[in-house]
Amino acid sequence: MTILSGGEFPDLHDPRDRRLPLIAPPCGLVIFGITGDLARKKLVPALYDLANRGLLHPAFALTGFARRDWNDEQFEEFVLASIRSHSRTAFSHATWEQFKAGLRFVSGSFDDATAFDNLAATVRELDETRGTGGNHAFYLSIPPNYFPAVVQQLARSGLSDNNTEAFRRIIIEKPFGHDLQTAQELSEVLHGVFDESDTFRIDHYLGKETVQNILAMRFANIMFEPLWNARYVDHVQITMAEDIGIGTRAGYYDGIGAARDVMQNHLLQLLALTAMEEPVTFDANDVRIEKQKVLSAVRLPSDLATASCVGQYTAGWQGGQHVRGYLEEDNIEPNSLTDTFAALTLYVDTRRWAGVPFYLRTGKRLGKRVTEIAVVFKRAAHIPFDNESTQELGNNALVIRVQPDEGVTIRFGAKVPGIDMRVRDVTMDFGYGHAFTEDSPEAYERLILDALAGESPLFPNQQEVELSWKILDPVLEHWARSGQPEPYRPGTWGPRSSHDMLAREGRLWRIP
Ligand code: BG6
Repeated sequence: MTILSGGEFPDLHDPRDRRLPLIAPPCGLVIFGITGDLARKKLVPALYDLANRGLLHPAFALTGFARRDWNDEQFEEFVLASIRSHSRTAFSHATWEQFKAGLRFVSGSFDDATAFDNLAATVRELDETRGTGGNHAFYLSIPPNYFPAVVQQLARSGLSDNNTEAFRRIIIEKPFGHDLQTAQELSEVLHGVFDESDTFRIDHYLGKETVQNILAMRFANIMFEPLWNARYVDHVQITMAEDIGIGTRAGYYDGIGAARDVMQNHLLQLLALTAMEEPVTFDANDVRIEKQKVLSAVRLPSDLATASCVGQYTAGWQGGQHVRGYLEEDNIEPNSLTDTFAALTLYVDTRRWAGVPFYLRTGKRLGKRVTEIAVVFKRAAHIPFDNESTQELGNNALVIRVQPDEGVTIRFGAKVPGIDMRVRDVTMDFGYGHAFTEDSPEAYERLILDALAGESPLFPNQQEVELSWKILDPVLEHWARSGQPEPYRPGTWGPRSSHDMLAREGRLWRIP
């Protein structure tokens, strides 16, 4: 045993010591679109939960910016109601008092110069009275057509200036463009004012514990990686299914659709994490390099008509309730061509993945809410049992259950008890809920904390965004040429053509 003398004890405040929790420095966050659903249900509660867990500096300040003509008390009420209804951790009066003292509200529209001057004055006041130290982040939880106006105003009012040690960052929510060209235009707008290193793009899937666990599982263990390649893997299925419809989001969703909404970001990020090589370190740049290599190596099959499909939900029954079809939802054009389901076959042209299809699917109003990555293995080269004994034996599979019921399932064959030799599929499960006593933090807690602390590995950069659009653009063009998406009934697993897409290759989608 080595005994450390006094001077040799490790510095408990070493910022590189990963055992210590990451804590945001003194800073302020301005949320544009504070009255919107995302801010109310996710962002504000996540901030409170961070404060409750002691991960925000006591000087932290939250400023809401919106058109409403609220005074500070009305804003406080709004924040309190959002915390009471949506925060994950128990309510603490002490945390609330501390948090409340840092709340400010600025009323105005996104192109109103006076309102931004007021915001600049508020930020200065916070630096002087609360000790935010000049560090401020601006969260754009607003439709992207307002980004240029806000970014310009931030520059004009001096709010984006970070010529001191302090930081000025911008945090944006998707969509990051509508296609490659508009993604590049958006990037020009942002980069005219903020450096790429001060730009944080939220893909909330990357903040989920189970998604980060893909890397832990693959790279901290010895038993999976030897099988993680074309020699053993038959195909990979990535499913993100929702049982809800579009609800009140017509304004955002119509004209965007399932592929742009979640395939361009969440699903392609899951693909990148599943297929990438081991990064040299887990620093942002090293992880991104590996993800970018995967996205650059993606190849679309030549016949998109058979290798992809889009659908739109009709009216029908789901969970004992009659639900409206997409075209009958509020504020949807009666002949809208928007996809509420999308499925796509992709290949990753690297030595590791040569010839292995990656099947992606996503949709609203499907059988249930589930996101999973299923790595389906080939059959063993030789199985020394007759066909009858192995009738109930499928392919071995490893399923990463992203949500709900977070965990990992391994499916393999085992002998059925009895005199005969019959082999049937069984599963072995790891469940987060059983293995750990601690609840998983919400994705937004992790991502907001990282953005305030300047940790960027979980944020896709501009190159990843562009590579993803490069993959999707030809598919979107193909779908635009093919007309109406295929109808599917609520509570099912999507249109017939999605099943045909796999059946043609002798495979089946899993029913999760
Ligand atoms: C968002 C999409 O990114 O993800 C929504 O815009 C979707 O359409 C949501 O409902 C699903 O997120 P989660 O975390 O519930 O799977």
